[in-house]
Amino acid sequence: MNNPWWQEAVIYQVYPRSFQDSNNDGIGDLNGITQRLDYLALLGVDALWLSPVYRSPNDDNGYDISDYEAIGPEYGTMEDMDRLIEEAKKSQIKIVMDLVVNHTSDEHPWFQEALKGPDNPYYDFYVWRKGVDGGPPNDLQSNFTSSAWTYVPHLDEYYLHLHSKKQPDLNWENPKMKQAIWDMMNYWLAKGIGGFRLDVIDLIGKEPDRGITKNGPKLHELLQEMNQKTFGKYDVLTVGETWGATPEIAELYSGPERNELSMVFQFEHINLDKQPGKRKWDLKALDPQELHDVFSKWQIQLDQKGWNSLFWNNHDLPRIISRWGDDSPKFRELSGKMLAIYLHFMKGTPYIYQGEEIGMINYPIQSIDEVDDIESIRTYNHRVAEGYPVEDVIASINAKGRDNARHPMQWNQQTNAGFSEAEPWLPVHPDYPTINVEAALADKTSLFYTYQKLIQLRKQYQVIVSGSYQAVAANNPEVLAYRRFTGSEEILVVVNFSKETQSYHLADQDWQAAEELIHNYPESSQQWTQLKPYEAFAVKRKK
Ligand code: GLC
Ligand code: CA
Repeated sequence: MNNPWWQEAVIYQVYPRSFQDSNNDGIGDLNGITQRLDYLALLGVDALWLSPVYRSPNDDNGYDISDYEAIGPEYGTMEDMDRLIEEAKKSQIKIVMDLVVNHTSDEHPWFQEALKGPDNPYYDFYVWRKGVDGGPPNDLQSNFTSSAWTYVPHLDEYYLHLHSKKQPDLNWENPKMKQAIWDMMNYWLAKGIGGFRLDVIDLIGKEPDRGITKNGPKLHELLQEMNQKTFGKYDVLTVGETWGATPEIAELYSGPERNELSMVFQFEHINLDKQPGKRKWDLKALDPQELHDVFSKWQIQLDQKGWNSLFWNNHDLPRIISRWGDDSPKFRELSGKMLAIYLHFMKGTPYIYQGEEIGMINYPIQSIDEVDDIESIRTYNHRVAEGYPVEDVIASINAKGRDNARHPMQWNQQTNAGFSEAEPWLPVHPDYPTINVEAALADKTSLFYTYQKLIQLRKQYQVIVSGSYQAVAANNPEVLAYRRFTGSEEILVVVNFSKETQSYHLADQDWQAAEELIHNYPESSQQWTQLKPYEAFAVKRKK
């Protein structure tokens, strides 16, 4: 049996606001993406996931949608969207849309109607409750640090919002609301899109009265219904954003017999550099062995039973080289290659976030006035009010803030890195004269070509797509190694996760005769007992 296309694919996430501005208003747009399709085809990706481009007041940069069937004017028109889908198809690239259906914007006409009160048919599209003792219905908190309930005086009721108060949660108990969502999804599917990335989808089964937000009891039933009513009829990729997924839960979402989603984004590895039980802002150093154990667990538990997504970055996460590699000029590319090699030989569908392939790094700020992201601003206000030292809060925002991923794409050395001739909505990183696409393409040893090669290898060797996984002991906690294998061939991946030289030892010495597939240092001598800083390679042999 053939694999579904999305099991063999590599996906590229575009954050449209920051990718390419085609009309010089400082905001990236759909025509900008269309202009850059050749670049994306050169990289070799199969699909683009676009962060939201719908009409939105942008309280949360488009994750607050006020019209699901209209393009935000800052991004272009529906004709531009249709043209992007069409042009991308010519390069064998599919367009995956972001689907935000846990909530809408408060400026969506549904919510505006709902505000007219219980007699309005849209009132029940949202979640309303009476207050208790002059306060909110309960102490549920929103993900952006304040009560999840907002009071509407003329109704004397509260509505639920698990994010900002401009993002009221939809009521997934209401069949009419569900039908409106199915219709909207079918509208997009009929355009020939390649699928959906489903924003915070593990929240739709919420039961706010019982304090349940993630993984509510009806969640999987709802997804099966969604599948049946919408994308189940199409050959598309569906990936759910699920902060609360364990491997057992991921099997429910992605098990081939269950007819829910293709796969989910799980965040267990992403949570390893925070203090246990605390928020992402409470920093802790990463332990590479812990990372390896988490990956190994997911690789093994989902084998044959579900499907993994593989990612380091997205629009909510800091840049991976700054986070777990080393963004100094000396090690930026080397550590970036190591991280790419480690991830891309795993089983699952890899996702590359714009700029990751050229090694873009975090953008440190001095003061909160430089920040655009609603989450970072809310956190700052909240923590400073609670007495945290300002320097610590800024340090946390520099390490984990979402703006790190959102500064404009760096295309060349020209004004504003070739992103726009106008002042960009968020400033360009000062390193753009050295870190940019043009420079990366001109240097055959750059990180870009490591990503390109990794994509090609996945297309070339079936063992990367469907082989089994086994962690391999290297007798050094900084050295991570694993094997991928089928009945006839096998690959070994070895990486040094540190900036020091490391010695290591593998039980199986026959690997020394294997064929080298990729290596981030030019000379391959000595790699069997010692690894140079961030050294990484993969070799293949017949069984
Ligand atoms: C997801 C998005 C994030 C957004 C949130 C609310 O986590 O990735 O950017 O703020 O959902 O929609
Ligand atoms: Ca523009």
